[in-house]
Amino acid sequence: MTKVLYITAHPHDDKQSYSMAVGKAFIEQYKQINPSHEVVHVDLYRENIPQIDVDVFSGWGKLQSGKGFEELSSEEKAKVGRLSELCEQFIAADKYVFVTPLWNFSFPPVMKAYIDSVAVAGKTFKYTEQGPVGLLTDKKAIHIQARGGIYSEGPAAEMEMGHRYLSIIMQFFGVPTFEGLFVEGHAAMPDKANEIKENAIARAKDQAHTF
Ligand SMILES: Cc1cc2nc3c(=O)[nH]c(=O)nc-3n(C[C@H](O)[C@H](O)[C@H](O)COP(=O)(O)O)c2cc1C
Repeated sequence: MTKVLYITAHPHDDKQSYSMAVGKAFIEQYKQINPSHEVVHVDLYRENIPQIDVDVFSGWGKLQSGKGFEELSSEEKAKVGRLSELCEQFIAADKYVFVTPLWNFSFPPVMKAYIDSVAVAGKTFKYTEQGPVGLLTDKKAIHIQARGGIYSEGPAAEMEMGHRYLSIIMQFFGVPTFEGLFVEGHAAMPDKANEIKENAIARAKDQAHTF
């Protein structure tokens, strides 16, 4: 069965957030078209997403030195175990739908913590004599993002680092298809905000047919 991870990095819901409103339109349409697919919501603001900290480093160090998982401290076990669980869930999925707002030219920090949990050598990529090679070559991904200004073209385009970062990571993991769906310019043109949002919702419903 096709498994889809709906990964959202937003503290608000679709009533307050443009990204979440467009994300919801996309995933609801996708579910209607593909009723047999399993869609799991990974809500990064509500789930436990450990940061790579001193416990994680010491836990990894113990495992690398040959110690068993049971020999880790309770903090190490909880964090290392959860990171590994997130990575296994990511690998087991076929498609990824990322939803983030643009904050200070990038996405919220919990999204980076999530990427750190899934970027694991031997799982999502591997090192070879020719350099690193991605292992997720049969996956597909889309990133839905609301941005107050315009970044898909024009002078600010090169300042956008959230979609660009995800694009590089997906490439690094070998994911062959990575789409972008943006709601942008509503802060710069408040009189057109509703039109911009409705237009993005319509595009989301269209894009759900081909995803
Ligand atoms: C903390 C924060 C940082 C932001 N940084 C930017 C930015 O760098 N560029 C921009 O155009 N808009 C920025 N905005 C505006 C948001 O991109 C805009 O409100 C967008 O709609 C947020 O997505 P949302 O509607 O899903 O919350 C920022 C908003 C917040 C709250």
